[in-house]
Amino acid sequence: MTTHMLGDDRFAYSQRVRYMESFAEAVLDLPDERDETISLAYGDADPAHFPVAALVGAMTHMMQSRVDDTLNYAPPDAGLLALIHARMSRHNVNLPLSQYITVNGSSQIIGLLPQVLCDPGDVIIVEGPTFLGAVETFHNFGVRIETIPVRVDGMDLDVLEARLAQLRNDGVAVKCIYTIPTFQNPTGTLMPLANRRRLLTIAATYGVLIVEDDAYGDLHFNSALPPKLIALDTHDSVLYVGTFSKILAPGVRMAWACGPKALIQRLHRWKAEGSNGPFMTRLVAQVSRDGWLDRHIDHLNTLYASKCAVLLAGIRAHFPSDVRYVVPQGGFFVYVYLPADLPVAKVMPAALARNVSFLPGTTCYANGEGTHEMRLSFSYQSAERIAIGIERLGAALAAVRAGQP
Ligand SMILES: Cc1ncc(COP(=O)(O)O)c(C=O)c1O
Repeated sequence: MTTHMLGDDRFAYSQRVRYMESFAEAVLDLPDERDETISLAYGDADPAHFPVAALVGAMTHMMQSRVDDTLNYAPPDAGLLALIHARMSRHNVNLPLSQYITVNGSSQIIGLLPQVLCDPGDVIIVEGPTFLGAVETFHNFGVRIETIPVRVDGMDLDVLEARLAQLRNDGVAVKCIYTIPTFQNPTGTLMPLANRRRLLTIAATYGVLIVEDDAYGDLHFNSALPPKLIALDTHDSVLYVGTFSKILAPGVRMAWACGPKALIQRLHRWKAEGSNGPFMTRLVAQVSRDGWLDRHIDHLNTLYASKCAVLLAGIRAHFPSDVRYVVPQGGFFVYVYLPADLPVAKVMPAALARNVSFLPGTTCYANGEGTHEMRLSFSYQSAERIAIGIERLGAALAAVRAGQP
């Protein structure tokens, strides 16, 4: 496999850089979202529903008042943290402001975690499958990743408990359990209340930090949600990570974390470029005022629920009946488990030949699993293109099954 994607090998780049480039080349070199191939691969937001007018209004207001506070060297806008704090309070999370941090996307927290927590050989536990960005980041930092399978109700806690016991026996330091309990990326599963309580008990028993990545926590179609892990936690052992990427726009790069004081302090210290600037923090706070963000989230939930329904209808109409998937109640994805004769390695070329693509399950694992799994996103494409894309994918699956290209 070549690793000269950037076309410049004058310098001896690190192992990490070479790994990243080979990963990106092998796995993510999928067609551009905007060409005639319908990509169901990525969890980008729907560009037809960006809140352009609301952002322009907020920006205009900002340019007419307190410009010095907004465009000069200045601290982040205090209104943003107040907004985040109020939103978390609605979920019975009552930590003081000093136990919060804002960051440039939740990916930044995922990147800071191994730096702050891990020495070589230390373990981070993840779900399998999980968010591919987390897999890539933890891997890059040389962390040992232990994978716990995901069932229809989220992380398999029997396996988790047995693995933690084994690792303790082996004298291995487990630094955190990274979980996406609500509309998990990529499986769309929702961890029920009893499992959440049990996960907290297990983590407390072994003295391990839980990182609750709640990127999709506001994106639910109809169900009442169980409490967040951090709201149930009585051991001060959950770091919660939230983001505006899915509910406002990924391009604003605004997210937050809250949790144990000492950990938040260290995250502040290690956030090399300092605090978020005044401009973006004020913009996000300004646009979200007076219930606007809640109304926008309601709008997104109606939108994504209807596009999810189109994708599921397409699967029922065009996929073989022996595929398996969880019907998600929220989030961005439907995750499909394919039968033995339909490996992704064969399905992907057949799909690309029919101008449709998806995310191979293998990218969502740290351990090479996922060879018969695919993630289908209903977030980016329009309902019309989702319907066409799924029909094409159905044709690709039928062709592979028939032994045709
Ligand atoms: C589970 C999960 N966590 C984090 C992220 C990254 O979010 P952000 O844009 O806040 O970095 C994503 C994006 O797809 C995600 O699915």
